[in-house]
Amino acid sequence: ALITLRQLLDDAAEHGYGVPAFNINDMEQGLAILRAAEACDAPVILQASRGARAYAGDIMLRKMVEALAEMFPGNHIVLHQDHGNNDATCLSAIRHGFTSVMMDGSLKEDMKTPASYDYNVEITGRVTKAAHAVGASVEGELGVLGSLETGEAGEEDGSGAEGKLSHDQLLTDPDQAVDFVMATKCDALAIACGTSHGAYKFSRQPDGDILSMATIAAIHEKLPNTHLVMHGSSSVPQYLQDLINSHGGEMPQTWGVPVEEIVRGIRMGVRKVNIDTDCRMAMTGAFRKVAAEHPKEFDPRKFMVPAMAELEKLCRERFEQFGTAGRS
Ligand code: G3H
Ligand code: 13P
Ligand code: NA
Ligand code: ZN
Repeated sequence: ALITLRQLLDDAAEHGYGVPAFNINDMEQGLAILRAAEACDAPVILQASRGARAYAGDIMLRKMVEALAEMFPGNHIVLHQDHGNNDATCLSAIRHGFTSVMMDGSLKEDMKTPASYDYNVEITGRVTKAAHAVGASVEGELGVLGSLETGEAGEEDGSGAEGKLSHDQLLTDPDQAVDFVMATKCDALAIACGTSHGAYKFSRQPDGDILSMATIAAIHEKLPNTHLVMHGSSSVPQYLQDLINSHGGEMPQTWGVPVEEIVRGIRMGVRKVNIDTDCRMAMTGAFRKVAAEHPKEFDPRKFMVPAMAELEKLCRERFEQFGTAGRS
């Protein structure tokens, strides 16, 4: 059944687990994620970006998630808007059956220009009021995602700040976080701690200089009852880089967020863990393997079935690692 983010994260906090929020764009991703959730008896957050809504269409997305809820009656599902850029995006998502929205006011509507603190408080507070009036949850974001190594947002094609960012912008200020949550009444708070979107997060195995778990600890100390959200949480596992690159891919060597660090974060109040890149890599790795090994193949299902299996395996691992397994 569909539930709200608030309902799910309250349970996660009570029992000390984290919930992966997997991005969804199509039926194959939905089936793979829910098969994993069913196998692990886990609740799950399905999140759709503005790009996903444009790709599949709101009606298709809604009916698809309704179908998944019907096919997997034992699993609680949250349907969440990822990185809403203004009121209209968030409110139209709710009208289309989303039970939760992210109002990302860390950036202006263009999702490229860092916004002022006052703008962020104002728009996030306004969306929260409207969402709560109809029973939906809201995730806000304070701090700008980006690399502490380069000062850049990372992802070139998606959302992400343009230009160089300072350490002050890249690490959420704990005192400001307290003020922000009080002022906006958001249900969950996305923080910046040195992670960024996409595959190219770190140029080496991250340490405390470039992945600031200390920031999460400091925020949790001041806001022990706030559900924290970690964006850019793909681990970019070596086995998936190898799967892609040994079948014709040319991804440069890169490092993501180690699963152990995410697990440490979960012990420090992280409840929602956003993962898109790993899912993309799992499916793409499987596609490439089929294409390389069976060049005569042209039935898309012969590509989709192994891709779904690879994604299901990844999701199962995350449910087990984050303690979500057994909690649906
Ligand atoms: O925020 C980034 C997510 O990975 C969604 O990406 O906007 O390309 O769907 P997208
Ligand atoms: P990744 O690119 O690390 O998977 O992050 C996804 C994300 O934060 C979506 O909001
Ligand atoms: Na989100
Ligand atoms: Zn994100």
